[in-house]
Amino acid sequence: MNFEEAKKKLAEYGQTHVLNYFDELTQEQKEELLTQIDETDFSVVRYAANPHGGQKRGKITPLGAMEIAEIEKNRAHFEKVGLEALRAQKIGAVLLAGGMGTRLGSDDPKCMYNIGITKPVYIMQRLIENLMDVVNEAGVPVPLFIMTSDKNHDKTVAFMEKMDYFGYDREMVRFFKQDMAPAVDYNGKVYMESKYRIATSPNGNGGWFLSMMNSGVLDRAKELGVEWLDIFAVDNVLQRIADPCFVGATLESGCATGAKVVKKVTPDEKVGALCLEDGKPSIVEYYDMTPELLEAKDEKGDPAYNFGVILNYLFREKDLERIVNDELPVHVVEKKIPYMNAQGEAVKPGEPNGYKFEQLAVDLVRELDTCLPYEVLREREFAPIKNKTGVDSVESARELCKKNGIEL
Ligand code: UTP
Repeated sequence: MNFEEAKKKLAEYGQTHVLNYFDELTQEQKEELLTQIDETDFSVVRYAANPHGGQKRGKITPLGAMEIAEIEKNRAHFEKVGLEALRAQKIGAVLLAGGMGTRLGSDDPKCMYNIGITKPVYIMQRLIENLMDVVNEAGVPVPLFIMTSDKNHDKTVAFMEKMDYFGYDREMVRFFKQDMAPAVDYNGKVYMESKYRIATSPNGNGGWFLSMMNSGVLDRAKELGVEWLDIFAVDNVLQRIADPCFVGATLESGCATGAKVVKKVTPDEKVGALCLEDGKPSIVEYYDMTPELLEAKDEKGDPAYNFGVILNYLFREKDLERIVNDELPVHVVEKKIPYMNAQGEAVKPGEPNGYKFEQLAVDLVRELDTCLPYEVLREREFAPIKNKTGVDSVESARELCKKNGIEL
């Protein structure tokens, strides 16, 4: 792309300020900026004009869950079915690790965070150890696909190499990068990271399947025989991955997806609630819960929207291929965005200063017809690390690890 073409593209989106420093740049920097302009999808910046506009929602109705008592009654059978699928290598695990982890505030990728007290225990190590439990039980490795982003790819790969993949069979691990989206100020103007780079951030975890496909990593999964993908977040250090009982229950249910859920502590707990929307499985984020939804009760007198998702879903690969071109909604998220100010200085803001644009994996569930909500005990399986202290923090996760006999 040349200067004129770049200017034309930027003008379409009201972003010509991106070229303000062009004359000062070296030839190499000019080329870098022009390439970035060429590759960036600026169409998302329009959402900044109506950040809380949201999507129009359908009719929300409750969706129960397969609760622990029922799971326990059928555990032996579900595990048998799950282990058979794992041994046939039909199950792949996808770690969504492209996020910036801004709330945790470390400069390194979140997976490198050390939660140990008496010895180093890295978040990635905890995840691999959990997955190894299944590998040992099944007697075969589980293919592991790790999504990173431009911002953390090199460090994540180097860390895994340095730690010798924490003993995992490296032949079974593949990395792929997600896409980036521009970040804007409250007026919808793209921030600059430097005179020759637009500030971008990972475009949310919703594009994982498309990125997996475009990178060729999906072909590798299919060569191995993978038919189902268990996606999971990097930050839950008690995450059970490719859990045979969950796999078996989902396969036996005939549903297109399975979602691990926990019973909410209170109806307004800050987790997305799994429900039906116009008869299809869907997730209502905690901030979208209306007073009526919060107060609704089921026939047993329990809150009707009682199950929260923990970002652990099982998807059938074939179904995702069918819906891969469906447009997912774009969420406008207020975040702290490092940028270059008018004086050319790099600023790392302490408070949110603009918007990022994200597509979310939860919205994939809505594209499919059926979902099995599968209850797990939060004390056993849900220790997310979002913050340094307080709720969902390193502190709370350490407590939960200790309760589960994990030495830190
Ligand atoms: P979060 O919603 O916690 O976002 O991600 P985050 O970017 O990691 O953290 P904050 O909000 O800046 O503090 C939930 C999961 O989705 C992944 C994260 O790595 C985490 O596993 N994720 C998030 C991606 O893979 N890509 C993204 O663009 C965003």
